[in-house]
Amino acid sequence: RAGEIAEELGVEAYVVGGFVRDLLLARPNLDMDIVIEGDGIAFANRLVQEYGGRVKEHDKFRTAVAILPDGRRIDVATARLEYYEYPAALPTVQLSSIKMDLFRRDFTINALAVRLNPKSFGKLVDFFDAQRDLKDRNIRVLHSLSFVEDPTRIIRAIRFEQRFGFRIGGQTERLIKNAVQMQFFQRLTGSRIFNEFKLLCEEKNASRCIVRLEEFKLLGQLHPGLELNAKKIGLLEKIDEVLDWYRLLFLPEPEPDPWMIYLLGLCSEMNDAEVADLTDRLNFSKRDQREFLSLRESVSTAFNRIGGWISRSGPLSELCLAIETLPAEGLLYLMARSTREEVRKGISLYLTRLRDEGIAITGQDLRRLGLTPGPAYGEILRIVRAARIDGQAEAREEQLALARR
Ligand code: CTP
Repeated sequence: RAGEIAEELGVEAYVVGGFVRDLLLARPNLDMDIVIEGDGIAFANRLVQEYGGRVKEHDKFRTAVAILPDGRRIDVATARLEYYEYPAALPTVQLSSIKMDLFRRDFTINALAVRLNPKSFGKLVDFFDAQRDLKDRNIRVLHSLSFVEDPTRIIRAIRFEQRFGFRIGGQTERLIKNAVQMQFFQRLTGSRIFNEFKLLCEEKNASRCIVRLEEFKLLGQLHPGLELNAKKIGLLEKIDEVLDWYRLLFLPEPEPDPWMIYLLGLCSEMNDAEVADLTDRLNFSKRDQREFLSLRESVSTAFNRIGGWISRSGPLSELCLAIETLPAEGLLYLMARSTREEVRKGISLYLTRLRDEGIAITGQDLRRLGLTPGPAYGEILRIVRAARIDGQAEAREEQLALARR
């Protein structure tokens, strides 16, 4: 229908970018980007007239987002006929507007389009031999100044390479090395680097992406303390595994932020002052910085307490007590970090069951037992809960009896 709307408005519509790439790779992708040769904002408005929903317009860039009633977002951009004068080294050329729009993008595999207008619906538009790159599993830039224009594309190249099992092509690799050597990366704001780092950590095999960052010497440029060694790589791989496991549980609560876990791993051999330097470089707000440092601290306290638990061969309830204040990110990090099977098992049991399992008695029951309300209540309920975790007070009666004692 989008194509028919375009036809009615007398414009050409294309679906472009990641959606088309994933279509050809037979991978799911629900984010649709549409480019209109004509007025993109008018098109987005017509789209929601037809389907319902609303439009967010960005007049400055002539782009809009159509948010459909089912929550799906369709990004609509306007492509205009322009003279391409930048990068400065190339001669000025006039390109058709869709070709121009695609030429500005990062890699050939992201520069494909599919026509939507009825007369040519479904026709693939491939100006830059992207189909060959998809076949050869190749990440290739569209022009030699791509990383100068936008150094975050270096991280994107790595992300796509690892996600699809592709390889960054020879010339593109040379351009990356050159950009790194010229320290283009240093010109980026911390927030942009951090955003790309977060996206990279969302990938299934983030550890391999991080190893690639190191191969391109980007970690050391960001902070010398980030440089990898075999131990850190092992830890990052364990984090991949633990996150895979956790995702498969499909727990209902908010998902943990993978970046926090990987960053804990990457900073595992740095001191607090170095971590503060790094988070400054990444433009963390003071509050986020404090939160991250405090997470590090609680994780390290819990780690030491777990050490004590192992040497005493303590009961499960003690392990739970050592970890109960940690957020999911901290728990998953500890699972990855621990080499002991009983710790991993204990934390996984805590995450999947014990964390949400209450006890059958409440403060009201304690009052009925004739106990004076006060701080002792908390202590008693904790003891009952510990006994429940250790399998000694499953039933309500047993828990009441224990409280009475
Ligand atoms: N793009 C670019 N340079 C960037 C970021 C984005 O050229 N630094 C272009 C790419 O062509 C990309 C499009 O903008 O296809 C949309 O960006 P984004 O949504 O980030 O990319 P996707 O390819 O959809 O990536 P993902 O699958 O990770 O969502």
